[in-house]
Amino acid sequence: MPLTPAALPALAPAATPGQPETTIDTPSLVLDLDAFERNLDRMQQAADRAGVNLRPHAKAHKTPAIALAQIARGAVGICCQKVSEALPFLRAGVRDIHISNEIAGPAKASLLARMAVQGKLSVCVDDASQIDVLAAALENHGSTLSVLVELDIGQGRCGVGDADEALRLVESIQRHPSMRFAGLQAYHGGIQHLRSQLERRDAAARSAERAGEAAARLEAAGARCDIITGGGSGSFAFDLTSGVFTEIQPGSYVFMDVDYGRNEVAEDSGDGVQVCPRFEHSLFIASTVMSTAASGQVVVDAGLKSMAVDSGLPWVWNRPAGEVDASLQYIAANDEHGLIRASGDGGALPALGTPVWLVPGHCDPTLNLYDELIGVRGGAVEVLWPVAARGLSR
Ligand SMILES: Cc1ncc(COP(=O)(O)O)c(C=O)c1O
Repeated sequence: MPLTPAALPALAPAATPGQPETTIDTPSLVLDLDAFERNLDRMQQAADRAGVNLRPHAKAHKTPAIALAQIARGAVGICCQKVSEALPFLRAGVRDIHISNEIAGPAKASLLARMAVQGKLSVCVDDASQIDVLAAALENHGSTLSVLVELDIGQGRCGVGDADEALRLVESIQRHPSMRFAGLQAYHGGIQHLRSQLERRDAAARSAERAGEAAARLEAAGARCDIITGGGSGSFAFDLTSGVFTEIQPGSYVFMDVDYGRNEVAEDSGDGVQVCPRFEHSLFIASTVMSTAASGQVVVDAGLKSMAVDSGLPWVWNRPAGEVDASLQYIAANDEHGLIRASGDGGALPALGTPVWLVPGHCDPTLNLYDELIGVRGGAVEVLWPVAARGLSR
């Protein structure tokens, strides 16, 4: 019989609004909307209390609907890590976007310059040649851009090493009328996952001090730093009270992956005020037990192609209890299979066909694997959000 492509079945959506969450086709990426909204509120309240701007990092979620929810609560805009990543957000109406990264080459500079015709865009630099490439693109497209000098405050990734180097770049920026020097970016990714809260606090204080000293030198030389931006979901509480940062850019707090779940968070400082607000796990991979053939384990349908494991394997989630299921352990990820065994002496393993929710080890690259995020509330699917910036890494 000849093949009739038009008669082939279409792939049904993994979920539609109104259906019970237990019937979502798997593997799928699921968002607990109540926990997610509480996370957004907590971060905004912490920033508001400190009088510091919140510019959440969209690299964590890549989802315009989430950026709009953050802005509706008071965020001043968002960060993106790549120029192409910013495009779907601009299209969705997010006007104020900081590219918290350096860019290389005329193609990216040209895209950024064209986007800057319509939005309020800013970018980081740590070399004079980046400024030249940006200036040429801006001139070509008749747009203007805010430029921040990135300062390395200990991560050893991008950024100039000291205030003298920063000043040379400021002078170079100021030679171009299409560019405005806006301030410093000072981000230290290496301290975000220091497990002990005290260690994290001390490391954040040292980083903030370096940023503050550099900013003071620049200001003394007449280069005003309107913005000093940095901080992630591990350090933000200390960055907020540092007196240095005018803006924080955390991303993962929206979801809380396993890696952040391992950070120690002290509840309060003794006067009832939380030092570090506690965020909830809101992001899950919905999987299904697809084989129980081998004794002592079950196999779920979510493996390496359904989650990033660079920061560790997922935790099993007890959905009815709303907590990590310590009786079960996800012990190995193959491409399309996940092996789950009972912890310790062994409790009951889930039966064939049972839905199993997993907390991903690292949220950012996990989001990058899915086209849509399925929002659930009260046991039912409420909304499907396109992960519109998924795969946009140029
Ligand atoms: C420059 C920059 N800012 C902010 C963040 C957000 O950090 P987190 O997701 O840990 O909150 C990152 C994450 O890698 C980053 O690279």
